[in-house]
Amino acid sequence: MEENKVKYTQMNIWKKRKQKVSQDLLDKFVIRDMNAWENLNADLIITDPPFGIEFNGKNGNYHRNVDNVVDGYVEWKISEYGEKIGQLLKCVKKNLKEKGQSLIFSGWNNSNIIHNKIIQTKGLILRGKLYWVYNFAPSCKRRPAHNVYEIYWITKGDNWYYNNRCSTQHCLNGEPNLATLIFKRDYKINMPKYPTRLPFKLLQCLLEHFSKEGDLVFDPLCGSGMIGVVSHILKRDFIMGDLNEKGKIVFEHLLGYYLNKNRLTQSQNLMKW
Ligand SMILES: C[S@@+](CC[C@H](N)C(=O)[O-])C[C@H]1O[C@@H](n2cnc3c(N)ncnc32)[C@H](O)[C@@H]1O
Repeated sequence: MEENKVKYTQMNIWKKRKQKVSQDLLDKFVIRDMNAWENLNADLIITDPPFGIEFNGKNGNYHRNVDNVVDGYVEWKISEYGEKIGQLLKCVKKNLKEKGQSLIFSGWNNSNIIHNKIIQTKGLILRGKLYWVYNFAPSCKRRPAHNVYEIYWITKGDNWYYNNRCSTQHCLNGEPNLATLIFKRDYKINMPKYPTRLPFKLLQCLLEHFSKEGDLVFDPLCGSGMIGVVSHILKRDFIMGDLNEKGKIVFEHLLGYYLNKNRLTQSQNLMKW
């Protein structure tokens, strides 16, 4: 009862602060199962599947007030993980153009399942793996703490687009190493949060290397819709979906924040490693 009251008050504060963002942009986030997408002909599919670790985003070892974290995150059971990854790869194959490519995130726990499913899928070629190093470990009580995500790079054929330089710190100092990407999580305060939201700069780095302006970017498991926010700002078109309608609340606030239509602030304190 008390918990519901806290949530209700929080929702009202968010509603009051909310500024209008274009309906056209909001409509590009569709509440839809990943299996329902057909023939999008996307240039780039970037997606971050559930981890299969009974995750709900409310764990206390995060840099955030859990009252601000929206619920409704759909996790996958470990018993169904292989089947779900098979469905995700089918979705990638159906919706990627011939010269398109895909980047699929993975935590370390079930990475072997994703790896094996990709190499068993006819019509998709595993080209390599990138590693994203992030600032999670400082708030974990248990040591050593793991703070690396794997990103599987997949193509359909032998032709794909690649741009040698991006405009983030990844390429600004010396020769860029595309195997290891070091980006902090960009925590926000005073706004609804989505568990596992990916940081702006990491997505900017990937979009600038693997796509060009005007390309269609697709994410069938978009959570907060962060990929749409970054795509829009970098002048890529986008379409995305998730089963969790609460993700759209976060998406709308993120658009407001990044398009500078509201006064929400980034916590500088939490940006420290
Ligand atoms: C790791 S999160 C994605 C987070 C996202 N990358 C972000 O930056 O916010 C995985 C998402 O997949 C969604 N999901 C799980 N099963 C799904 C399905 N069958 N169809 C669509 N979305 C699904 C979950 O609700 C969750 O939001």
